[in-house]
This record gives sequence, C-alpha cells and structure tokens, in this order.
Amino acid sequence: MWTKACIFDLDGVIVDTAKYHFLAWKRLADELGIEFTERDNERLKGVSRMASLEIILELGNKHLPIGEKEELASVKNRWYVEYISKMTPEEILPGTLDFINVLKHNKIKIALGSASKNTPMILDRVGMKELFEAVADGNIVHKAKPDPEVFLKAAEMLGTDPAKCVVFEDAAAGVEAALRAGMACVGIGRKEVLGAAHTVVSGLNEMNLEKLIILEKQLGYE
Ligand code: BG6
Ligand code: MG
Repeated sequence: MWTKACIFDLDGVIVDTAKYHFLAWKRLADELGIEFTERDNERLKGVSRMASLEIILELGNKHLPIGEKEELASVKNRWYVEYISKMTPEEILPGTLDFINVLKHNKIKIALGSASKNTPMILDRVGMKELFEAVADGNIVHKAKPDPEVFLKAAEMLGTDPAKCVVFEDAAAGVEAALRAGMACVGIGRKEVLGAAHTVVSGLNEMNLEKLIILEKQLGYE
C-alpha cells in the first residue's frame, strides 16, 4: 500500500460527542440567556473550546472580559466531563473498529489528531487507548484547525512522511488542516460541507481497504 498511516479525528469520526458538547453549551447558553440551537451547534464542530464560547457569546451579542470567559469555558467543560465520563464502548461509531483492524492488518499505522483536551478520557472510556500508535490532541497541540499542526504532529510522532498519511475528518476546518498538511483527506459526513476533501463517505462503516486503494489511484499514488 502507498498509504503508510491513517490519522483519525476523534469527535464526530470515532465517537459522537457532538451531542454532549451541545448539552453542555446549551446549559451554559441558557444560564446566560442566549438562544442556542442544534443548528448553531454545527458551527462549533472542530472548533476549539474558547472559539466555541466566542461564537455563543457573539450569538447573544455579549462581550465579556477574558477572565470571565475562561471561567465560563471551564464551567462548560465540567458539565461536558460529567457526560463523557459515562460513555461506554457502545458509543464507538459503527465500522470504526473493523476499519482500524483492517488497516493494522495491512501494516498501516494508526494515529489520532484531535483538538480536544478531553481525548485521553474519551479514549479510556470507550476502551480505545491502546489502539493508537500516536495521539496528537489539544493537550500537546496549540494551533487550532485549520492550522495543520495537529496532523503534522501526529505524522511526526509516527515517524511517517506527511505525504503518505490519510486523514479522516468530519469538520470543514479539519479537512482544510489535512490539505494544508499535504495529506490525503477523507471527509466523514456530507459532501456539501466537506466538498474540499478528496472523497467523502457518510461514516467509517462506509470505508474499506478497496476504497483507500481507489483514493490512492485517484490521487495518482500507486
Ligand atoms: C473538537 C470538537 O474535536 O474539540 C469541538 O469538534 C470541541 O466541538 C473541541 O470544542 C475542543 O474540545 P474540548 O474537549 O477540549 O473542549
Ligand atoms: Mg470532529
């Protein structure tokens, strides 16, 4: 195989944590008297914790000093952690484990590339901690997607040439980050949102080795 490593985003690709982010942000927005809908929540996907708060405050036309914003972000995170601490392996999205096992069987390295500082806890709760050879997350990476830092860091940790990595991403900012890292990118979700990716599938249950080989051919890598 031309592909030497696959790098997975966490939230929305491996687990559906968007619903827990929504519950926690909604609770905070309610307390602040800001209207916040599931549609607004779409804008927070792939976006860092502080940038997410900024979007919510902007929806309510509220301007707060940085100290208060930091306090609100940590309140939201406490609620979020309450939800994710109850997660189970059943919440791993369909097809994820099968696809990862096929990749491993074919000697393709596996890494995680996520903005989330809660990555270690989520991987632990769903029992996937041992599966990844490298984890680049919000605890070691500081430039938010669409900056390519998170994926470049994952490739560096694996010791793999970025040009031989394939990224799986559900957020437009993440797709841009992968492309800026010089990597191939499979969008996970809807074409209208992820059109910049080299190919788009609805979930990892739609992925298999054959599709990866087709992608390699499409990109002229053989
Ligand atoms: C991303 C999510 O993976 O992580 C965002 O898509 C989230 O919604 C971001 O804000 C940061 O996560 P955390 O867990 O560090 O607040
Ligand atoms: Mg995501």
